[in-house]
Amino acid sequence: MNLRALAARAVFEVLEKGVSLSVALPEQQKHLASGKDKALLAELCYGVMRHLPQLEKRIGDCLSKPLKGKQRIVHQLLIVGCYQLYFTRIPGHAAISETAEACRQLKFEGMVKVVNGVLRNIQRQELPLSTDSDTLKYNTPAWLIKRLKEAYPENWQQVIIHSHERPPMWLRNNRLSQTRDEYLARLQAADIDAGAGESPDAILLASPKDVSLLPGFHLGAASVQDGAAQWAATLLAPQANELILDACAAPGGKSCHLLELAPDIKLVAVDFDAKRLERVQQNLERLSLTAELIHGDAANIDSWWRGDKFDRILLDAPCSATGVIRRHPDIKWLRKSQDIEELAALQQQILDHCWQWLKPGGTLLYATCSILPQENKQQIQAFMARTPDAKLDTLARQAPGDIGWQIVPGQENMDGFYYARLHKATL
Ligand SMILES: C[S@@+](CC[C@H](N)C(=O)[O-])C[C@H]1O[C@@H](n2cnc3c(N)ncnc32)[C@H](O)[C@@H]1O
Repeated sequence: MNLRALAARAVFEVLEKGVSLSVALPEQQKHLASGKDKALLAELCYGVMRHLPQLEKRIGDCLSKPLKGKQRIVHQLLIVGCYQLYFTRIPGHAAISETAEACRQLKFEGMVKVVNGVLRNIQRQELPLSTDSDTLKYNTPAWLIKRLKEAYPENWQQVIIHSHERPPMWLRNNRLSQTRDEYLARLQAADIDAGAGESPDAILLASPKDVSLLPGFHLGAASVQDGAAQWAATLLAPQANELILDACAAPGGKSCHLLELAPDIKLVAVDFDAKRLERVQQNLERLSLTAELIHGDAANIDSWWRGDKFDRILLDAPCSATGVIRRHPDIKWLRKSQDIEELAALQQQILDHCWQWLKPGGTLLYATCSILPQENKQQIQAFMARTPDAKLDTLARQAPGDIGWQIVPGQENMDGFYYARLHKATL
């Protein structure tokens, strides 16, 4: 099927059915043979998610009445067409004819003229995209702008701008295979430009590369993981022979890093989602690591664990993922304002329960890929107020006087992330 039709279908799945793009896109990419076409399909879908309000406005202004019901797929196709005209170097005539052909293939023969007409108008008029409201200017829903203004009164615009940049590719050197310097040398020998990041195993590539081009990737020499996420294992600092819980483990990036840092730990990796837990197993296998995998609820450990309390717990909690919008721009449209309070309540429940399963003297690292204080510093502040046996660490890189370490998107090229390290008093 025509690539634009596949793009419209993927966009439809996200916007009309609430499916995440990381699920919807591969479903459509299956229909394409060449890597180049798959990459173009991804570019169109990700681009649409980044610029959605402006594209919607432009299309809305060109239609005499909105397309509803079954015709929504044609609306999404118009959005894909409009994106090509404004944001790609595809010649306008090719973008329009391919998009019109997609309309035919989607079995809306009767609307081919409309698609042609609207896109030709847009091409002819050459109007700039509207920036009449903050939502249009920043391509971000009003509720999220409001929350970001409250959280970052001085730099909310920067936070949003960095959330729309194309993210760099980070690698985590597998220190069980070679030192970071050795892997940097292997990359250089393969003509891949890269440098060391701040955390001990992090490597930042000058430009993204297909993993098949990375030396020894399939043998486990390195993994793809953002620089911010790589701080988790380092901050938890696992020690030989300890019993450690990764309470929300899938797809397993941080579990694997913990084992690379301390192969002699006993790691219990738990996730609520059985399908995602399979990915933990695959990641462990590629790196020749082992952990005990459990499909279970981190808010009900008693139901699946009969062993000792844990020396250390990593709680990489389910969250709004507002720190990783640059990697997953569909988050802007899948999340709703009320989700934040619901997520904060879930995080609180999991945090309180995990605390019960931490040994006195043990350490719990709370992490999210959120940039909203309700899920981060307010969460930890409230936890400290109700938990007399908890002591909060000051992390070396956190802002003076802050509660935990809030990383904002783009800071040192990293994703937005949050860390708070808690110690349990010995009684
Ligand atoms: C942020 S992701 C974890 C990422 C993972 N730590 C990594 O580095 O690859 C959050 C995970 O929490 C899981 N989750 C959500 N609620 C849970 C619960 N009550 N118990 C266990 N896992 C849960 C989700 O399925 C999701 O895989």
